[in-house]
Amino acid sequence: MSLTSTPIPKIQTKTIIQMNNVWTSYDAKNFALKEITLSVDRGVNYAIVGQSGSGKSTLLKLINGMMHPSRGTIRVDYQTPDITNKKFKKMMAKIGYIPQTLGLVKNLTVLENTLMGALPRINTLNSLFNIFPSNEIDEAHRLLTMVGLENKSKRKAYQLSGGEKRRVAIARALMQKPEILLADEIVSELDRVTSHEIMELIAEAQRRINLTAIMVHHDINLALEYANRVAVIKNGEKILEIGVDGDQIIDFQTGNMTQQEILEMYE
Ligand SMILES: Nc1ncnc2c1ncn2[C@@H]1O[C@H](COP(=O)(O)OP(=O)(O)O)[C@@H](O)[C@H]1O
Ligand SMILES: [Mg+2]
Repeated sequence: MSLTSTPIPKIQTKTIIQMNNVWTSYDAKNFALKEITLSVDRGVNYAIVGQSGSGKSTLLKLINGMMHPSRGTIRVDYQTPDITNKKFKKMMAKIGYIPQTLGLVKNLTVLENTLMGALPRINTLNSLFNIFPSNEIDEAHRLLTMVGLENKSKRKAYQLSGGEKRRVAIARALMQKPEILLADEIVSELDRVTSHEIMELIAEAQRRINLTAIMVHHDINLALEYANRVAVIKNGEKILEIGVDGDQIIDFQTGNMTQQEILEMYE
């Protein structure tokens, strides 16, 4: 048998997302992100924090292929993110993206919004008329029970509270059966109890399906509580990458900063 006919087995690498020296911009003058190098391991919770305008949302858009680097490379499970690339389209179906604005259809019910997550695997004709097989409807109900909204499945999205809307967005993203979840400030502006409930929901989903979650947060303390790694972005640059070990904050970026230096840098 010749070597060329031997199928190459699909290898599951430890790293699912890799960015090397990535720069990107919206206009000719300013870079929204500069020199971003990071890698995210499968199954972890990776947080991105930073002030408003620092480039957090842009970073998520690079991962899901909505934007492209002007320099540097990005690989998401071996693929270069690009929504016009057929191969990446398959990968995209496995990326649950929850934008800062959530993207719910306000006149559709909670159940219908959740079912939207199944659209990529529904045939075109049925998806045009929003006709879903019963197994998909069962799955949507199961996820709504999980996020605590089964009793509101017939409510319209616009009739929900902020916390409930986020739960629907999570159910819709999980309906995709994602490998990666990108969530942009999903717990910002929520009260402490609700933010923790939502973070627990995501942690639970991660345990069940080995989901890799990349979450943008406003609050670094909340990020440190839930994430394996926290990248701090300032003016488009990744200035820190930290995590908690026991009661110590560890510098994963340079490996030699003390906790005090880290805290001073974040201020
Ligand atoms: N659509 C856009 N067109 C032009 N500039 C943009 C656009 N979106 C974001 N920016 C700029 O890019 C920078 C990073 O924005 P963004 O990633 O949204 O930051 P963050 O999510 O951290 O608030 C900001 O300076 C912002 O003004
Ligand atoms: Mg943002």
